[in-house]
Amino acid sequence: MSLLIVDRLSKNYAKSVKALENVSFRVDKGECIGIVGESGCGKSTLARVILGLESYKEGRVIFKEQPVAPKKRTFLRQYRKDVQMIFQDTTSTLNPKLPVWKSILEPLDNFKEISPAFLSAEGLSRKEIAEELLEMVGLEKQMVDRYPGELSGGQKQRVSITRALSIEPSLLVCDEPTASLDVTVQVQILRLLKELQKKTNMTILFISHDLRAVTFLCEKIIVLRNGSIVDQFDLAELYHKQRHPYTKALIQAASIE
Ligand SMILES: Nc1ncnc2c1ncn2[C@@H]1O[C@H](COP(=O)(O)OP(=O)(O)O)[C@@H](O)[C@H]1O
Ligand SMILES: [Mg+2]
Repeated sequence: MSLLIVDRLSKNYAKSVKALENVSFRVDKGECIGIVGESGCGKSTLARVILGLESYKEGRVIFKEQPVAPKKRTFLRQYRKDVQMIFQDTTSTLNPKLPVWKSILEPLDNFKEISPAFLSAEGLSRKEIAEELLEMVGLEKQMVDRYPGELSGGQKQRVSITRALSIEPSLLVCDEPTASLDVTVQVQILRLLKELQKKTNMTILFISHDLRAVTFLCEKIIVLRNGSIVDQFDLAELYHKQRHPYTKALIQAASIE
């Protein structure tokens, strides 16, 4: 049974704006699936529907055999235990008024029943837990006392990653997590995600306009164009003749031929 099933999902914002049309795919446990397409093709809409932040009328989104109930407070609270996210813009997850350690601990505070397996010892103080988490994503533990405004873009994204992973979610949804970072920092963040994915065997849905980033991280790739899936393949089949012309154009544009 797949962890996540998206089945014939369509979504219009207004009559004229078809953001998603008949989108179907599955994500199995431990998979890292990439969704790629140019700006405006519906990537963020898809992410938001899967995260339960956006309503949908046509089709189904099923997580662990339960339909995702959009915008339902009680459902979402439980759902966040399983499904976490990282966005391009860290301000939606990191409160500028809170020191880093408080932001990091928010999910763990929400789900007190979770005791993460990665902690080295029992009886750690809350701040010590935040320090351990920061070290997991390659940041110095002294940074727990900083505020988001005192961090670089890459550091903020590392903090968002550690926050999302603190409760060991079954699924991590990333929507353009590297889009606003310098190229070298993008590579570092992608490497970090890959390393954490290998280490924890977590399931990732990685959404990006950047085919390079997607091919670096994901073993399965879905190509979205104007709200529809036009191509879907394993990484090993990237250069196969039968790739959709649009995928070929993306490959060419990314100069990874
Ligand atoms: N809240 C909204 N209201 C109306 N139209 C929207 C809204 N959000 C996105 N859209 C439209 O839906 C389409 C897909 O947008 P989006 O999912 O943000 O694409 P992407 O993330 O791939 O850039 C675009 O045409 C966009 O203008
Ligand atoms: Mg987007």
